[in-house]
Amino acid sequence: MALLFTSTPDRRPVWQSLFEAEGIPIISGEDAVTDPAEVTAIACWVPPADLSRYSNLRAVISVGAGVDHLPPLPAGVALSRTLAPGIEAMVRDWVVMATLTLHRDLPRYLEQGRAGTWQSHPVALAGSRRVGILGMGRIGTLAALSLQALGFDVAGLSRSGVDGAVPMFAASDMERFLARSDLLICLLPLTPETRGILNVKTLSALPRGACLVHAGRGAHLDTVALRDALKSGQISAAMLDVTNPEPLPADHWMWQDPRVIVTPHVAAQTDATEGARHALSVMRALRDGTQVPGLVDPVRGY
Ligand code: GLV
Repeated sequence: MALLFTSTPDRRPVWQSLFEAEGIPIISGEDAVTDPAEVTAIACWVPPADLSRYSNLRAVISVGAGVDHLPPLPAGVALSRTLAPGIEAMVRDWVVMATLTLHRDLPRYLEQGRAGTWQSHPVALAGSRRVGILGMGRIGTLAALSLQALGFDVAGLSRSGVDGAVPMFAASDMERFLARSDLLICLLPLTPETRGILNVKTLSALPRGACLVHAGRGAHLDTVALRDALKSGQISAAMLDVTNPEPLPADHWMWQDPRVIVTPHVAAQTDATEGARHALSVMRALRDGTQVPGLVDPVRGY
């Protein structure tokens, strides 16, 4: 029983020492594999192309929160996404930053600043801004609580629509949810159901002049629809951490448009210790025959 580690080399020493402390073998990099049959799990962003050589493989661990970039795995191989408080807190921080950035008109003030213009605009109370969060999993819920604590009028949308930390709308009630979202936040996982969900129809269903905060995946957003919505004034500003494609080409219109702020997919980065701890919990579950933490449902896709 061993973990094959193929994530970034800078994380290697931390993983190595935590695994050694637990007495669970870890192999760093495919080149170091002498007996592929020893490998029971692989921790990676993208797994090795040929998984068939690992005859005893039982789990693949994505070192991030997302799994949409992974190919289908062989039957019987569990997929685990890293559950780490740091990932959740970092994305929450980014979402709070983006929400405040748009709520407090920062794109406009940055543009004015470039022209040396000192001019104020009305400031709205947080409570007058209705925030809608698409994707109310662990990260969405954390973001909802933080934004609520800042005074925003927060609601979420989930499959079931059962009220939790904040009022919730069911997926079937999407139009009513969008109609009350002055600032829409997308934190959805990317699945066949959610691909392209930020499109002409959904952006048009928002109140006029709404803002968009997007830290889901680039493929959720139809960028032509965003450009048209900015042009017509339907959307007033957007802040995105994910784009399609990534990296966003240097000459892309979104870099030029002062109403759009783009960060290069940096909302969260998995802390080495937290990532290794998650992988260790997967190894223990495999050893003890208990449920793999962060187990992804292959049908739901998250
Ligand atoms: C980053 O986007 C991740 O999936 O962790």
